[in-house]
Amino acid sequence: MVIETFRAVAEAVGAEHTAIRISPEHNIQGVLENDRADVTATYTALVDGIADLKPAYLSILHKDPADEMIQDLRRRFGGPVLLNTGFGTVTSREDAIMLLEEDLADAVVVGRPVIANPDLARRWQEDLPLNEVDQATVYTNGAAGYTDYALLETVAS
Ligand SMILES: Cc1cc2nc3c(=O)[nH]c(=O)nc-3n(C[C@H](O)[C@H](O)[C@H](O)COP(=O)(O)O)c2cc1C
Repeated sequence: MVIETFRAVAEAVGAEHTAIRISPEHNIQGVLENDRADVTATYTALVDGIADLKPAYLSILHKDPADEMIQDLRRRFGGPVLLNTGFGTVTSREDAIMLLEEDLADAVVVGRPVIANPDLARRWQEDLPLNEVDQATVYTNGAAGYTDYALLETVAS
């Protein structure tokens, strides 16, 4: 069903405007993927079923980016693969650098740090301190937590 839906969307808008996030073995909210053989067969079939379209990217959430299944999915996809290790630890600048230096991904997905730091690109480029995300405002309505995280003051030299 995912493949059929993805292909229909790609046909409608152009595959270069499509991408997909998969989270093999993420095991949250009662969705349990504990059978390795089944997980591998499922996600291999999914990736093989869309790779020929050349979507813009494949985003993978997995706690171990070096996992053989994950790197096999990356090879099968053939295009840019974005990695994120999930909620266990907040993605750090060092994590992102390591994933790229070890060639485990073509790019790294960042969640909480980018929510809390509207100028994250600059802060990571210059290795500057970060705001921490306020969990109380995540998944809530209103502007709080969306538009009120401070930019880092530019210090006059
Ligand atoms: C507010 C919020 C919403 C998210 N929504 C989704 C989602 O809809 N689908 C998904 O696959 N991951 C979602 N994520 C997970 C992120 O893509 C990422 O895996 C997670 O935040 C861990 O990365 P981090 O340590 O950089 O925050 C969400 C994360 C946050 C904080």
